[in-house]
Amino acid sequence: MDRRSFILLGSAWSVTALAGHRHRGRRMLQPIPGTVPAPTSSPTTLTPGQALADLARLPNGSAASATFEATLVAERASKTLLTGRLTEFWTYNGLVPGPMIEVFEGDTVRIRLENRLSQETTVHWHGLPVPPNQDGSPMDPVAPGASRLYEFTLPIGSAGTYWYHPHPHQHTAEQVFRGMAGLLVVRSRTDPVPVAIEEKLLVISDLRLASDGSIPADTPMDWQNGREGNYVLVNGQYRPTLGINPGQSQRWRILNATNARYLRLALTGHTLTLIGTDGGLLQSPVPGLDEILLPPAQRVEVIVTAGLTAGASAVLQSLPYERGTMGMGMMGSGSSTIPLLTVAYSRSATLPVAMPTALRPIAPLGVPAAYKHLVLSSGMGMGMMGGGMMQFLIDGKSFDPARVDLTSRVNQVEQWTVENRSSMDHPFHLHGTQFQVVSRTRGGMTIPETTLAWRDVVNVAAFESVVFRVLQSQLGKRMYHCHILEHEDQGMMGMLDVVA
Ligand code: C2O
Ligand code: CU
Ligand code: CU
Repeated sequence: MDRRSFILLGSAWSVTALAGHRHRGRRMLQPIPGTVPAPTSSPTTLTPGQALADLARLPNGSAASATFEATLVAERASKTLLTGRLTEFWTYNGLVPGPMIEVFEGDTVRIRLENRLSQETTVHWHGLPVPPNQDGSPMDPVAPGASRLYEFTLPIGSAGTYWYHPHPHQHTAEQVFRGMAGLLVVRSRTDPVPVAIEEKLLVISDLRLASDGSIPADTPMDWQNGREGNYVLVNGQYRPTLGINPGQSQRWRILNATNARYLRLALTGHTLTLIGTDGGLLQSPVPGLDEILLPPAQRVEVIVTAGLTAGASAVLQSLPYERGTMGMGMMGSGSSTIPLLTVAYSRSATLPVAMPTALRPIAPLGVPAAYKHLVLSSGMGMGMMGGGMMQFLIDGKSFDPARVDLTSRVNQVEQWTVENRSSMDHPFHLHGTQFQVVSRTRGGMTIPETTLAWRDVVNVAAFESVVFRVLQSQLGKRMYHCHILEHEDQGMMGMLDVVA
């Protein structure tokens, strides 16, 4: 391990973290009149049982066909969540979560970012095959007060459930936990799922609120484990209620927009049918699932079918999942079952709608022309509190924006093995493309992946190795990293150069 570079980086963070903390502390204690942003109109609420709100949509400002144009403003916005206290979020367009972006395959997308925050930010189009210079990576920050245009065209075949979030080096975790993340759905003009199957969009985020209504900074424990909040929100609401008719099927697109919380999703009294992953639909539905593990940054599409008992109800919950954290306490996802959403049956039944058995073809990526082996590790380093901090590394290195770590040939199938030598799970993410998981090996046992699926995040459990196949079709530099955002900010990230 490179101890020297960690010490240097470690002291840089501590300066940033402490300066930021003092700044916020002063503002919270003595708000200057006129500087507190107006409360937002977003449905963020901590009162359980309210009807699940539809996500606000980002309106398309273009009248031209196959064109989507809009502006995202990165700005502070305040909201009363605890009586008599204002909570300040960092948002896109004043909304938590950010507005939902709905586009179609073939669309040209032009979105302007205006940065009204007091630090650098970017918009990263997580999972979308956009050119490297439009990807909002840490290499292209937008300064406070500045703006930039992101422009890309979405290829046919890219329909799926994506999201957007900031990606500035060392500040991604904070900007996301303060509220900046939104869903992006790419639709196909030939979606095989019947329109009679109602669609619900569920963005799951994590909020930690102090008793004074503020969102506190990350603690040293958060930097180690990844931050989990004390409220898990769905579309910005705390334990809302979603209506369903007896016999009705709904298509849920679910995004885990938390910094670090693993969602082991289960719906009481129901099974789930998996129809899609990060990069869109599977070849055919996978019915009868009791639970689905959704690590940070992953998305799924599921079909939920209600039984026939009028007035029944069910709870979508996250079951305990041990991801190798230390000292997380009561709200840690390792120890408790967390209710997320109540599903309430109405009185009048709906006639069932049959799902097609074939959704879309997925061609296996085939025989690799090159192989890569990456090692995820953690170890003790000198941290901001005078030692005892863990450091999180890929191939023994911490991220350096001036260094290329790996090289791939454009349009060449590669097989990557990502080996986790640490005692904590890490959700591994690669920019610019979707990959196909081939197998997972743990304790000498290899389990082949049975379902062909497009993903851009795969969980690599403690001491597990995951093998996937991947192809990059655009030249340029791409990030790969752990999507526990605190780990990413601490340098558990590398750079891939895709060359001709
Ligand atoms: Cu959500 Cu670098 O990614
Ligand atoms: Cu990404
Ligand atoms: Cu990690």
